[in-house]
Amino acid sequence: MNKTLGIGIAGLGTVGQGFIKQLKSFKAGSKKAANIKVISVAVKNLRKKRNISTPSLPMTNNTMSLANNSEIDIVIELIGGSSGIAYKLVKKALSNGKHVITANKALLAMHGNELAKLAEKTNVSLNFEAAIAGGVPVVKAIRENLRFNSIRKVYGILNGTCNYILTKMENNEGSYQFVLNEAQKKGFAELDPTFDIQGIDAAHKITLLSCLAFDIPVNFKSTYVEGITKIDNYDFEYANELGYTIKLLSVATKSKDKIQQRVHTCFVKLSSEIAKVENETNAVVIEDSVIGRNMLIGPGAGAGPTGASVMSDLMDIVRETKNYPLGVSINKKKIMKIAKIEDLFFAYYLRISALDKAGVMAKISKALSKRKISIKSIIQKPSNKSSFAEIILITHKIKEALLISAIKQIKILPEVSSSVKFIRIEDSL
Ligand code: HSE
Repeated sequence: MNKTLGIGIAGLGTVGQGFIKQLKSFKAGSKKAANIKVISVAVKNLRKKRNISTPSLPMTNNTMSLANNSEIDIVIELIGGSSGIAYKLVKKALSNGKHVITANKALLAMHGNELAKLAEKTNVSLNFEAAIAGGVPVVKAIRENLRFNSIRKVYGILNGTCNYILTKMENNEGSYQFVLNEAQKKGFAELDPTFDIQGIDAAHKITLLSCLAFDIPVNFKSTYVEGITKIDNYDFEYANELGYTIKLLSVATKSKDKIQQRVHTCFVKLSSEIAKVENETNAVVIEDSVIGRNMLIGPGAGAGPTGASVMSDLMDIVRETKNYPLGVSINKKKIMKIAKIEDLFFAYYLRISALDKAGVMAKISKALSKRKISIKSIIQKPSNKSSFAEIILITHKIKEALLISAIKQIKILPEVSSSVKFIRIEDSL
């Protein structure tokens, strides 16, 4: 394309600054990029100090002006948040026939169907490589490269902050709060880090990958989500002793008539590839019926990697590469049932704190055997509360609803402290 393309950037946080840096060095090094012109950069606070030099940038605090400026062909939304100004801006820009690039997974998880439909209607691109797994090109891999291979499973580590915290916890490198602060300083964590640690950010991402992989509409409200807050150092100690580590996994699968979309912590074998993915690194495994298995792995958060993905989306528009935002036309998406977590089958790690006296184990076993829950292994550890013991059980596979019902019965035993923890085990990875 010879025409100069005008871009408007909304938001100069971690990703915005990463992208501007990248754009500057790219323009300096490549004549091909010379036909991109930054027309406007919208920020909330014009006076805020930033890590990049801003005097040469055409700054404004009128974000919505980007959607109405006739010199702007492409709006790059890097504000974040599923509603408010980000939603208004993207909607208006698409309605006005401008291409949109966004790193905003929350926005797409909540409004992706509507926005994709709008982009189709006005015949513009809606690109979002930066929204999922930072610098790892997983959106394009699924939407473009692997889409004809009948994908049956996508899973992996999609939140850098949680993986960073879990890695440091396992290695005993500081308290939970200390490690979270570190992740925030490094620019991995969301503005509101509860989105990270409660699994919501990963759930936004796996919902979008499921939509791309299985040609279903975006359906965030049916994604099962659990974060990392219930994990402590003892869980790692016990997991390691049993040959496992703990990861926050995001999983989407398709069987004949059902989809699974879930995010939760899992025991994974220490020998598995996924167990070796450390710190803020993300990894996505894609299983299909033609190639088999692909694993993409790389930096999942931070200014550089995420800025690079925005750049790649921009280059697709410059080169006039066009795709349906969600893989196929929104009218061709098929609605499928999303399975409830209670109906799925897992093996489990159970951690029960109980009085260390005769007969307790028999009562726990009774609650399990009544529901045909079979125990694979058992360890007993002294508890930090005197006269109590920690009972660690590994079960065989069982329907989750039965486990929940057994836990209810175990919790009310007078010898058992009220907290009974369980973590699902993914043995097949
Ligand atoms: N907060 C996200 C993470 C940033 O930690 O993975 C990248 O989406």
